[in-house]
Amino acid sequence: MWLVIAACLAVFQGTIGDPSCASCKNWKDGVLNVHIVPHSHDDVGWLKTVDQYYYGSRQGIQNAGVQYILDTVVSQLLHDPAKRFVQVETAFFWQWWQEQNDHMRHQVKQLVSNGQLELLGGGWVMNDEAVTHYQATVDQFTWGFRRLNDTFGSCGAPRAGWQIDPFGHSRETASLMATMGFDGLFFGRLDYADKTQRLKNKTAEMVWQGSPQNLGKPAELFTHVLFNHYSPPPGFCFDLLCGDEPFIDSKHSPDYNVDRRVKEFVDYAKKQSAHYTTNNIIMTMGQDFNYQDANAWYKNLDKLIKYVNAKNPDLNLFYSTPTCYLQAVNSANVTWTTKDDDFFPYPSDQHSYWTGYFTSRPTLKFFAAQGNNFLQVCKQLYALTELGPEDWADLTAMREAVAMMQHHDAITGTEQQHVAQDYALRLSRGFDECHFATEAAVTKLLTINSTQPTLDFESCTQLNISQCATTESSDRFVVLVFNPLSRSVSHHVRIPVASSSYKVSDAVGVEVKAQMVPLPEPMLRLPGRVSPAKQELVFMAEKLPPLGYTTFYVQKLAGKSMLAYAEKGPERLTLKNKFMEVSVNEITGELSEIVVDGAQQTIDQSFYYYEGAVGDNEEAKNRSSGAYIFRPAGDATKVAKQAKTISYKGPIVQELQQTFSPWVSQVVRLYEDDPHHLELEWLVGPIPIEDGKGKEVVSRLAIDWRTDGIFYTDSNGREMMTRKRRENLTEPIAGNYYPVTTAALLASGEQMLAVFPDRAQGASSLRDGELELMVHRRLLKDDAFGVSEALNETAFGEGLVARGRHIVKLGSKSLKAEQRRLAQQHNVLRPWLLFAPTDLTAKQFAKTYKTSWSGLSAALPPNVNLLTLEPWKGRSLLLRLEHLQNRDDDEVLSKPVTVSLKSLFSGFDVTAARETSLGANRWLSDVKRMEWEIDSNDIGLDSNTLAGGLDDDFNVTLTPMQIRTFIIDVTAKKV
Ligand SMILES: *[C@@H]1O[C@H](CO)[C@@H](O)[C@H](O)[C@H]1NC(C)=O
Ligand SMILES: *[C@@H]1O[C@H](CO)[C@@H](O)[C@H](O)[C@H]1NC(C)=O
Ligand SMILES: *[C@@H]1O[C@H](CO)[C@@H](O)[C@H](O)[C@H]1NC(C)=O
Ligand SMILES: [Zn+2]
Repeated sequence: MWLVIAACLAVFQGTIGDPSCASCKNWKDGVLNVHIVPHSHDDVGWLKTVDQYYYGSRQGIQNAGVQYILDTVVSQLLHDPAKRFVQVETAFFWQWWQEQNDHMRHQVKQLVSNGQLELLGGGWVMNDEAVTHYQATVDQFTWGFRRLNDTFGSCGAPRAGWQIDPFGHSRETASLMATMGFDGLFFGRLDYADKTQRLKNKTAEMVWQGSPQNLGKPAELFTHVLFNHYSPPPGFCFDLLCGDEPFIDSKHSPDYNVDRRVKEFVDYAKKQSAHYTTNNIIMTMGQDFNYQDANAWYKNLDKLIKYVNAKNPDLNLFYSTPTCYLQAVNSANVTWTTKDDDFFPYPSDQHSYWTGYFTSRPTLKFFAAQGNNFLQVCKQLYALTELGPEDWADLTAMREAVAMMQHHDAITGTEQQHVAQDYALRLSRGFDECHFATEAAVTKLLTINSTQPTLDFESCTQLNISQCATTESSDRFVVLVFNPLSRSVSHHVRIPVASSSYKVSDAVGVEVKAQMVPLPEPMLRLPGRVSPAKQELVFMAEKLPPLGYTTFYVQKLAGKSMLAYAEKGPERLTLKNKFMEVSVNEITGELSEIVVDGAQQTIDQSFYYYEGAVGDNEEAKNRSSGAYIFRPAGDATKVAKQAKTISYKGPIVQELQQTFSPWVSQVVRLYEDDPHHLELEWLVGPIPIEDGKGKEVVSRLAIDWRTDGIFYTDSNGREMMTRKRRENLTEPIAGNYYPVTTAALLASGEQMLAVFPDRAQGASSLRDGELELMVHRRLLKDDAFGVSEALNETAFGEGLVARGRHIVKLGSKSLKAEQRRLAQQHNVLRPWLLFAPTDLTAKQFAKTYKTSWSGLSAALPPNVNLLTLEPWKGRSLLLRLEHLQNRDDDEVLSKPVTVSLKSLFSGFDVTAARETSLGANRWLSDVKRMEWEIDSNDIGLDSNTLAGGLDDDFNVTLTPMQIRTFIIDVTAKKV
């Protein structure tokens, strides 16, 4: 085995600058080089589940079996060293690899090191780019890369992005891929009009500036828009699934077609080449789940190459790969145009804007977000407590389940119903495994001596519907609040309980202020909710330790009810704390006014719905709204003119519960200690369809500001994108929708309004001062882009009900500087709660266990976050630090910041640290990316940030928005 790797390294080192282990020098000067790239697009779940696709079961739904693809492709490659193939989705590859014997594995390693089998993309899945969070994307690549590196060594490191199917492309993806060390990115889907124009003016290849304001050159990525999506030229799909005409080359056959077929191909190649700059073009020879019988493809490709080359000395066809193509194009020394925004939204024709999937399946999207949150907690606790390798498998289940959720037909909601259920099942198993690991970790941390009773912790995953077995049924229980952030935060804990009087004590046994709030009536009749809890106990977990926990002790009291009475009188219409005052209109019951620091703002919030367009999908103008497409039949209708309201006030939180209709309600919540922070918890569904119409529900905020058509949305939770409302679109509403993963903002002068959703949603500002987020959708007609089902989700025999949270902040410009931290604290990396019943008293409990603990020796500065901490190989750990601020955000926080790794952690010292590229699969010192000339001035920011060094104390300096990745060795601190 080491011989193979050594050979591969030799090739690699012998050709510095050559970005792959393979020798690619097949292109020639003075001719048109046609790079024939055999590939198969293998969705990790869509119409069938992952396993159905892998094994090839349920062929009646779709004829697709990935195991056959890999079997037959590998056998073809072994027979002919000229042939090549690109393998993309590591989830499938890994499943196949584990089934191979040593002989086969040895052969496949050779195919990888000689470049015949090129690993491309290489993430666990081909992730969506609109509704994913960058943390989950980085993780899913890291996990795929890790399997590849462990298997193939450095030749297994993918060198290019292959995002051929995702429905639009985010700038953040370009930034991440550049810092993973990729040399280029290929994709297929972009605005049809943009594509036409780019082909016309030869800008279908460009240098995409992934972080023009912050990272500069290290985030630039050469980007190629594929000519014919990811398909072969029409008529040249030789797969058994396609049925195109094969080469019939017997001269005696009456069907002999070589001359005609060659001419058709050459005409097409020349037409294509007229749209690209160099004398190279790439031909994607594959389709969805092609190559189950690879021989059919390769046999005809062999003939294509042979006959075209024989008859056309000005053409050079050869088996190639995307990275070989990049090398060829790079060597042409062209100066490229640049792009510094993104490829959203994606309309595939005048009426088909792919902006519905930003919201489709809102509860699956929330589950995915929670999955990332818990995975981080689980990995951190695992690493901090050095759980033994025997628990290794537990972590992997969750890593793989969360990674799989990022697939472009998973988190997007564009899969069939039974597949959505399969993803949810896998994720739920991941939760179980992670819960097991988390419980083991906190038990270890809580333990002072081994004779104390162990606590049986529950991680209540149904807190979002105010349901939790332990808290509902125990008279005394412990709440452990774990903070995954590397800074201290405070958090309001809400616990569903069945009685009406409780006492809460903190980690040292001192009573803390607590309050009870009745659950809104619509919650009590929520389909599927089985809980005796009619109220929630609320208290503040103050100053949680960074990367650590504290515990609270909750005891049921016999005394009189703590439940607040509903407010009467005019106070019932106003919520107020020391920072702000929020009022609802007496007649409509809608939010009407906010007073912040004495300044009054008229602000209105209500729910509306669009009726989904219905058509036969035969022509663009007859497109239906569906899982992918948002196409409203007209303007939005208000759900109700009036909301019934009821309000409760207490020392910790004031709540105003609004009921708009039997299927839309909301809680407006103002916590005592949260500055300028309003929580809107919406409950929507079952969306009625008795009138035969599908509906798409939005929450719309309107403030009396002039915003000049400008609003801001996050790109995968990281940098913000400026959006400008476009007029004169064929779809003026859907065409102005953008994805929001963590934040949407409006600005006017020195003021800002921000909304932080707890899951990804579509959003727009259709009129000045307005911000709307689509929270739920239920449709009765398919949009004919393949999923073949209407997006009509049901649960418990009714239309699906979704509950979620919008945190609304009104503030100054500094909100822009704070937004990422706020999104992390409230949504992305929310404190994780664990519950356990106990027989001890509060005092006994505080004495018996280690009730408070931090994994860090000190909090990190406010502009730095520990993005990743997880067990890696052997006893090493994987560590990522990120700078949270933009360059122009803030005078202080936007400065570069230095963190010393050496004694960062409370339990161990860092004894060695080696920096890698973002995906943790290449030592940073080995990464040499291709250089591309660009036509505009380079932004000139730290063009060398990627090569940052590390001193003896492991001091790490981060520049604005930079992420740095390290593999560290640690040794336990001497006590
Ligand atoms: C990748 O794999 C090779 C071979 O196993 C190993 O030597 C190298 O350290 C790995 N790279 C990283 C960044 O882990
Ligand atoms: C080419 O078309 C694109 C897309 O419309 C446009 O952004 C760009 O400015 C054009 N470039 C040139 C050089 O005409
Ligand atoms: C591109 O530039 C390199 C380095 O300057 C040079 O060696 C090479 O010949 C050039 N290639 C072409 C096609 O001009
Ligand atoms: Zn796909």
